Amino acid sequence: MKTPKRLQPLVDEGLIDEVSRQLMSGKEAIVYVVRCGDEVRCAKVYKEANQRSFHQAVAYQEGRRVKNSRQARAMEKGTRYGRKMAEEVWQNAEVDALYRLAAAGVRVPTPYICFEGVLLMELVTGADGNAAPRLNDVPLEPELAREYHTALLRQVVLMLCAGVIHGDLSEYNILVDANGPVIIDLPQAIDAAGSSVAGAMLERDVSNLATFFGAVLPELLGSQYGEEIWNLYQAGVLTAESKLTGRVAAPETPADVGAVIREIALAREEEEDRVAYSGA
Ligand SMILES: Nc1ncnc2c1ncn2[C@@H]1O[C@H](COP(=O)(O)OP(=O)(O)O)[C@@H](O)[C@H]1O
Ligand SMILES: [Mg+2]
Repeated sequence: MKTPKRLQPLVDEGLIDEVSRQLMSGKEAIVYVVRCGDEVRCAKVYKEANQRSFHQAVAYQEGRRVKNSRQARAMEKGTRYGRKMAEEVWQNAEVDALYRLAAAGVRVPTPYICFEGVLLMELVTGADGNAAPRLNDVPLEPELAREYHTALLRQVVLMLCAGVIHGDLSEYNILVDANGPVIIDLPQAIDAAGSSVAGAMLERDVSNLATFFGAVLPELLGSQYGEEIWNLYQAGVLTAESKLTGRVAAPETPADVGAVIREIALAREEEEDRVAYSGA
């Protein structure tokens, strides 16, 4: 096809040899299949900030690393320089997360480069060699659903062990290749340690999985894997091997029954005193 304008700089630099076709136009990006030498890859072109949606929310901005305080101030003020910086931080967030996660052994597309607002990465392919289907488009019976759910919880744990929370994990941001689920779409990924909303984000990601797989595995609907994983992480004991049950134990400290009985006795005495005085 004719090279789209946003991909021209990559063609000029020799990063892409040919643009084969448009794969998807999502809410945040347009994705193309491209040829680089004799490899087929995928190029994700980020939409301009004003065409994007909820990821602009403040919750996602918190904890983002910026190069220096001048950048941070400019971004806060929303100057033109600041907006350009914010855009760069946003665009680099996904490639940064992909590098960190690939190094941690998480199943994500191999990243190559982010250049001029375009992320060049591995094209995840399905059994037929074409672009892999999204989890949402894969027919599931209970056995396969259980396998994928377990595999994805493992991936979420590995991500968290690497300090990363996806922040928008759902059946639309998971592809399925011959070896199972692959996680994609990470520009909003957040730093587990640097954000006050990290726990809530993690629990939402994990409960999205339970809701999706719960359609064929109803027992997942009341599970508490998110809370369980977050508790282990906060206690500093989460590892890739942590056994998960989906249940969170009731608080460990036993209720102080004695104190409750004393409270009741005191209340009764007070009431008796009140009655005695008012009757006098
Ligand atoms: N590495 C990849 N390999 C194959 N398909 C991909 C890849 N990355 C994205 N896609 C396809 O493009 C779609 C949009 O990409 P995504 O990263 O989810 O961006 P958006 O923010 O627009 O949702 C995905 O749902 C998927 O179908
Ligand atoms: Mg997506």
